Amino acid sequence: MKVQRVEISSFTSGISMFTIWVFLHTGIMQGYMLMSTHYIFLAKWLFLTGAIARLIESAILYLKETNLHKKGSFLIDADSFKFKNKVKKGSILVGKGFLWTSEHAQKIYDLKSEKKYSKIIEKGKEEGNPVFHNVGIHKEENIYLDVASMKGHMLIAGTTRVGKTVALRLLIKQAIMRNEPVLIIDPKGDDEMLDDIYDDAKQAGRENDFLFFSLAHPSKSCSYNPLETFAEATDLSSRIASLMPQDAKSKPFTDYAQTVLTEVANGLLALDIKPTLRLLHEYSLVRMKDLVTILEWSLEIKKDDQKTRKARNELLELANVEEIPIEKNKVIKQKKMLYYTHLKNLADNAGEHFRKMTASLEPIFNTLNAGEVGELLNQPNPDISWENAVYKNKIVYFYLASMFKGEAKSGGVGKLALQDLLQFIGREYAFSKNVATKLNIFVDEFYNVVFPGYVDLLNKAGGTDTRVTLAMQTTDDAISALESQSKAKQIISNTNTRLYLRVPELDVAKTFTELTPTDIINTRMKTYSVSPSTSGGSHFGTNIGERSIPQEINIVTEDFLASLPRGQAFLRYHGKIYKVRIPMIKRKEERFSFAQKVMSADFSAKNINY
Ligand SMILES: Nc1ncnc2c1ncn2[C@@H]1O[C@H](COP(=O)(O)OP(=O)(O)OP(=O)(O)O)[C@@H](O)[C@H]1O
Ligand SMILES: [Mg+2]
Repeated sequence: MKVQRVEISSFTSGISMFTIWVFLHTGIMQGYMLMSTHYIFLAKWLFLTGAIARLIESAILYLKETNLHKKGSFLIDADSFKFKNKVKKGSILVGKGFLWTSEHAQKIYDLKSEKKYSKIIEKGKEEGNPVFHNVGIHKEENIYLDVASMKGHMLIAGTTRVGKTVALRLLIKQAIMRNEPVLIIDPKGDDEMLDDIYDDAKQAGRENDFLFFSLAHPSKSCSYNPLETFAEATDLSSRIASLMPQDAKSKPFTDYAQTVLTEVANGLLALDIKPTLRLLHEYSLVRMKDLVTILEWSLEIKKDDQKTRKARNELLELANVEEIPIEKNKVIKQKKMLYYTHLKNLADNAGEHFRKMTASLEPIFNTLNAGEVGELLNQPNPDISWENAVYKNKIVYFYLASMFKGEAKSGGVGKLALQDLLQFIGREYAFSKNVATKLNIFVDEFYNVVFPGYVDLLNKAGGTDTRVTLAMQTTDDAISALESQSKAKQIISNTNTRLYLRVPELDVAKTFTELTPTDIINTRMKTYSVSPSTSGGSHFGTNIGERSIPQEINIVTEDFLASLPRGQAFLRYHGKIYKVRIPMIKRKEERFSFAQKVMSADFSAKNINY
């Protein structure tokens, strides 16, 4: 394929026009032309202006092309850049860029064989290579996504410090501006991002919609019950079991613990008590026999006595309820008897084997139920509920602070919350197939909060116009957190829109490049041949040359992705590939620092008016 040198064609047409003007001006052509002086004047004027315009155009294009190494990422000043005007209704701005075609790929391969280009590579090795963008910069324009396409979900991938959070913030800001419900899960706890998003909410006049949940500031945080939504006991037990080790060796333990939790949850439900993390902890691992005793009383198997009364009072206090009913309905009683029998069997045999099989549940419950965080997660009427978030249009921010609180706690709460949300979405979908939650979910460092039903979340969410945007680091750590490559790939393959920043890992890069079209590209290869010398002296001569090899390859290859500068990405959207520069919204000098304010004594996230 031939590379189009736009500036050359502009230059030659400019020069041709200028030559004609010279002919007309000097009168060389007058002898051949029978035009009146008026027409000659008009023609001279047209050729001169045409020549000037084409020459200026070619100069601009030439400068752009010779500045291949110059342009980098760009900043948007939230005030001076009229962001609102740039964001068209129903669309999302992702940056400035152009449609990436095989011509661009060819140009990269051509440049690769130029000395200057290899110098640019050397110069920009650390900071990435701007050439990928600059080969098409003369056609750069704003690139938008349809809001409607977001239900196909999006993945932002990139190695550390290349701009994943900056890209996420750009999308979050626009979701806030659209006045839609937003959920942000930030496993790491990035103060800058928190401040940015709160500023965005304020700017959009939505600070009263902002609900903040934080493991790092529990006394200032809204409360949230991660077991709020469920259809049956197994929904809750599987949610907790998802925090246990998932490898094959641990499976018998995880399965056993899940069965125990199901029986206990059923026992509590048989007493009309909603299971919480604390109740499940207490009645699975500490006082299962008490639950059996209360059930015997409630199902009229045994008469009331002092021991039963004591157990009942303790449950009333722990569950924060007024009374426990005696079941009179015969049909329901029979069903509840079944749960009772299962639980009694379990309690009667809860010996050494039971303790061994459930040993890994204890630390999980301790992490979630201890101290102030325990209070937040076990409130009967929590401040944050998905119902409220979706239908009252909230901006819910989960600041999980894995840095201070450890992966187990932050990942644990994130996983539970997402599964609770999945249940809510499933319920809404079952209730009405046409429901559109318009909930925009953004999960930074998503591998920290992955659970076995993640793909299910993505599929169900799409059906209810719930849009999930996942950001992932591409370090090996992140991949191993996803436990297996195949699990990671399955999640990735469920995201339609992909925004890949710099990705040096070959395997991850392939999940993008393989989706790009292929074309015949002339790649060049250095050749080195040795032949017998014809002149005297030495017996052999060497010959260094270059050979052009046409090859069918993807229009974006892994080495392109590995060399992108900060804030630059390849985008795959609706089957097309774009090269984009992502704007970083400039921070104001004096901005409201939410992170700092959270720490101040007069603040409480529960008072909606900050
Ligand atoms: N689009 C951009 N334009 C200009 N600078 C950028 C852009 N994106 C990122 N940067 C710069 O890079 C820094 C890191 O960006 P960001 O925090 O988004 O990276 P990250 O990929 O989320 O990093 P981490 O892996 O640590 O979470 C920013 O503070 C900013 O200085
Ligand atoms: Mg980040």
